[in-house]
Amino acid sequence: MNNGQRTQFATRLGVIATTVGSAVGLGNIWRFPYEAGVHGGGAFLLIDLFFIFIIGVPVVCAEFIIGRHTGSNIRGAFRSLAPGKAWGWVSYIGITASILILSFYSVVAGWTLEYTRRSVSGFGGITTPEGLHDQFDTYASSDIGPVIWTLVFLAANYIILVRGVQKGIEKMSNILMPMLFIILIIFVANSLMMPGAAEGLKFLFMPDFSKVTPTVVLSAMGQAFFSLSLGLGCLITYSSYFTKSTPLVRTAFITAGLDTFVAILAGIIIFPAVFTFGQEPAAGPKLVFEVLPSIFMHIGGGVFWSTLFFFLLFLASITSTISMAEISIAYFTEEFRLSRRTSTALTIGIAMFLGTLCALSFGSLNWLKVFGMTIFNFFDYFSSNILLPVGGMIISLFVGWILDRGIIRRELLGSRQIRNTFNVSIIVFCLRWLAPVCIGLVFIFGLGIF
Ligand code: PFF
Repeated sequence: MNNGQRTQFATRLGVIATTVGSAVGLGNIWRFPYEAGVHGGGAFLLIDLFFIFIIGVPVVCAEFIIGRHTGSNIRGAFRSLAPGKAWGWVSYIGITASILILSFYSVVAGWTLEYTRRSVSGFGGITTPEGLHDQFDTYASSDIGPVIWTLVFLAANYIILVRGVQKGIEKMSNILMPMLFIILIIFVANSLMMPGAAEGLKFLFMPDFSKVTPTVVLSAMGQAFFSLSLGLGCLITYSSYFTKSTPLVRTAFITAGLDTFVAILAGIIIFPAVFTFGQEPAAGPKLVFEVLPSIFMHIGGGVFWSTLFFFLLFLASITSTISMAEISIAYFTEEFRLSRRTSTALTIGIAMFLGTLCALSFGSLNWLKVFGMTIFNFFDYFSSNILLPVGGMIISLFVGWILDRGIIRRELLGSRQIRNTFNVSIIVFCLRWLAPVCIGLVFIFGLGIF
C-alpha cells in the first residue's frame, strides 16, 4: 500500500538516527532523572525497564507495522486498515497528545537555549550550588525570557520542518546523535569521580521497594511511553517513511536499547552530583538545570563543557520535537490537502500559544491550576501518564486482535529479522494480552479507579 510518491528515509543509518533522535531527548536527560528522583530512584528505574522492554518494544513494533504497511499519516492509516470503524479515534488522542507535549517540551528546550547562553558567560561568575540553584529559580519564574526562548525554539522547528523529511530531519539526526553519545560518556566519567558517586549510584541502582506505590508504577509507565515516543502515532508516522527493507524488530530493539542507555547515563551523571552538592533528588522539573551547572562550574574548562552540553541538549530536543510535530503536519497535509508550509504553520502556531501558557505557568500564571497542577505539569501528566498509555493500549489491541495476521507476518518476517513464526506469535501475544492487561491494571490502581 505504500504509495510510491511519498518521501522515504534515504539510508538505513538515517532510519535509526531519526527514530533514535525522536526517542532520545529531554525525556532521557531531563525527565528521567527528575521522575526517578521524585519516585525514589532504583525501583522506579526497574519498573521503567519492564515497561520499556516487555510492553514498549512490542507496541513499538505494532506502530511500525501500521505505519510502514499503510505508508500514511495516523488518521489515514486507521482509515485504510479499519474503514468506518471507531479505531480511528486513536488518531485524535495521538494528535492531541503530540500538541500538548510539543507545548511544554518547548519550554524546557527554551531553558536549554538560555542555559547555553548563560554557560558562555560562566553563569555570571556564580559557582556555588546554592547560587546556581537560585539563579535557575529566578529565571524560570520570570516571564519574558522563558516565553521568548520557547517561541524561538518553536520557530527553529518551523524552519526545519518546512524543508521536509529527508532534507531537514534525517540530515540533522545523522550528525547530532553520535555527538551527544560521546559527550555524555565524557560526563559520566567525570561524575563517577565525585565524592557523592557511591551514594548517587546507590540511589539510582538499588531498588527500595518500600517506595513503590501505584502512583510510582503509573509514572514509570508514563515515562517509558514518553521516552520511546510511543502511543501517539509518532512511530506510525515515522515508519510510514521507512523502506520495505527496514528491519522493524531490530529497529525497535535498537531504539529501546539506545534510549535506555542514554537515560541511565543521564542518571549516572546527575545523581552523584546531587549527593556531592547536597541537593534534593526530588526537586522535580528543575532538578537537571539546578544540578548540571554545579558540575560544570567545578571542572576544568567548565565554560566550554557547559556550553557544549546545553547546546547538544537543545539539539537533542529538536530532533524529538520535529517528530512530535510531524504527526499533525502529516495529518493536516494528507487529510486536508493543505500545503506542507500551511500545515507546519498551523501546528507550530498552536504550540506557540499553548507553549506560552506553559512557560508562564512557572511565573505569573503560577496560580492557575488544573486538577491541582500548573498548566505545565498538567500537560505533562495528562499526556504522558494518560493519553500515551491509552493510545498504546488501543494500538496494541488493534494490531493484536483486528489486524490481519498475514500483514503482521509480512511486515515482521519480510524484514528477515524474525526467522520463524514463533517469534511473531510472541509479539502478537504481548499485543493481545500482556500490554493491554498491564496498562489496564496500572490505570485501575494508579488512578485509584478501584
Ligand atoms: N521521546 C522523546 C524524549 O524522550 O525526549 C519525547 C517525545 C518525542 C515524546 C516524540 C513523544 C513524541 F511523539
